[in-house]
Amino acid sequence: MDDNNYIEPPAVLPEIEEDTRRLEFSMGSEYQTGVLLRTLAASKPGGRLLELGTGTGLATAWILDGMDRGSRLITVDLDPACLEVAKRHLGTDARVVFRQGDSADVMDSLRGSRFDLIFADAWAGKFWDFQKAVDLLNNGGIYVIDDLLPAPAWPSDHPPKVDALLDRIQNHPDLTSFRMSWSTGLVIAVKG
Ligand SMILES: C[S@@+](CC[C@H](N)C(=O)[O-])C[C@H]1O[C@@H](n2cnc3c(N)ncnc32)[C@H](O)[C@@H]1O
Repeated sequence: MDDNNYIEPPAVLPEIEEDTRRLEFSMGSEYQTGVLLRTLAASKPGGRLLELGTGTGLATAWILDGMDRGSRLITVDLDPACLEVAKRHLGTDARVVFRQGDSADVMDSLRGSRFDLIFADAWAGKFWDFQKAVDLLNNGGIYVIDDLLPAPAWPSDHPPKVDALLDRIQNHPDLTSFRMSWSTGLVIAVKG
């Protein structure tokens, strides 16, 4: 089995990739992460989804590709230049709302809401304010993070932060989780 040769990207992806290169934004999610997110999004018909760290919308495009017509996505980023690219390519899709701001503040503003899938790809909601993201999950809701396998660009103080986060997720009383050496290294955790 070749686990890469069946990955068919969303039709809009090449255009987003072109603008992403032009912006010299290098933190976009990989195809393997995208195809996983698309599949998980498809498992939540009528779902409420949240993405922390839109970037240029690469992962957003995969998530939207898996969502059914009744699902809704809120996606958040601090950087207006990144968001502009994402909005230009995905903004006509009525299922998605783009929010500019700090993901910690946006999570605060969403307190009381519940989500069926959270992709936490900014540090707030992952390395800090992790519990805020867990609080926003429905029972049965899925929490996804990537960039967990060591990478050359990591500063020397990053590995212990990743280890602490992995331990925290594994030992969280409300989460059932597993780790995947797939793409940049992922954790999938389910609440309940
Ligand atoms: C790893 S990138 C996300 C890439 C995205 N998944 C994609 O596929 O293009 C992380 C993003 O988080 C954003 N970011 C960093 N800190 C943030 C914060 N506190 N709140 C919201 N967004 C933040 C950055 O601007 C960056 O676009």
